[in-house]
Amino acid sequence: MEQNPPSFSEHGLVEKPDGSLQSTREFWDTSPCDGQADFEQRKQFRYRKEPWLTDFLKRIAASHDQILEIGCGQGTDAILLCSLLSENGRYEGLDYSPQSIQSATVGAWEVRSFLRVQPIFRVGNAENLDIADNTQQAVYSMGVLHHTANEKKAFAEILRVLQPGGKAYLVLYRRWSLKVGVAKVLRFLQAVFDTVFMTKRIFYRFFKGAHLEKYFGTMILECFGVPYLKCYTKKEIQTLFAAFEILDLYQVGYNVPWIHLKGDGRTMFGYFWVMELKKPLSNPFTGH
Ligand SMILES: C[S@@+](CC[C@H](N)C(=O)[O-])C[C@H]1O[C@@H](n2cnc3c(N)ncnc32)[C@H](O)[C@@H]1O
Repeated sequence: MEQNPPSFSEHGLVEKPDGSLQSTREFWDTSPCDGQADFEQRKQFRYRKEPWLTDFLKRIAASHDQILEIGCGQGTDAILLCSLLSENGRYEGLDYSPQSIQSATVGAWEVRSFLRVQPIFRVGNAENLDIADNTQQAVYSMGVLHHTANEKKAFAEILRVLQPGGKAYLVLYRRWSLKVGVAKVLRFLQAVFDTVFMTKRIFYRFFKGAHLEKYFGTMILECFGVPYLKCYTKKEIQTLFAAFEILDLYQVGYNVPWIHLKGDGRTMFGYFWVMELKKPLSNPFTGH
């Protein structure tokens, strides 16, 4: 039996002239999603906060043999997917943060005997996937693409790599929701303070020092520290994904563990858009 987790590979990443990919990486390397805790603690925190997510992942794993996750973070959902996929399945997870990929690799290795499929984790960029056209059965991405500089490029990449008829399951921030509204106001206040006191991300540095992740996960750090925090109206989603067939589009998530909604957690107050998209079998205009 292997004594050490396998090493992971890194695909050549192209920095943007404004340095935004580097700042994205620095943020997620030091503030990984769901904190620095081990897999078991992350899992408990995550699925208590987002109880709808486990059924959503079960449905994805039951419908596909092969899943590509974009922005897998520390691999919490990856590990659940790999325990549910059929034994001849395949899971590949990409993330821009090498620290998150390292943590995902170690986490999966520790629970490897419970997994039906051993995951492949790699550092990669959603905007520039090193994956061949029309090869993926299903793409899953949860809470990621609203944090990238050019999300339209990332959506086009998903369309490119999916097989005709392949599915994408994406989760993005919803504009008119309380959580996103509060985050936007707080980010604006930080920008005002930074300008007045000639500082950089003053609240972020304060909260980073306060170590509140145990109570709030990385929510507060994300609010003040993440380089991009975008959000969308329903109309914007429909426009952005016009090249896909939109099979389902609904809102979920209160971010408060004591409110448990039954079933798939649909609510008109949700702060996430959940999308189930299909790549058309052929272009309706050219027939190819
Ligand atoms: C909020 S976390 C979500 C992680 C995971 N999906 C989850 O729900 O736990 C966002 C993740 O997206 C990754 N990310 C941001 N921009 C990316 C990009 N352009 N390509 C790949 N990953 C990216 C970050 O490194 C970070 O791990």
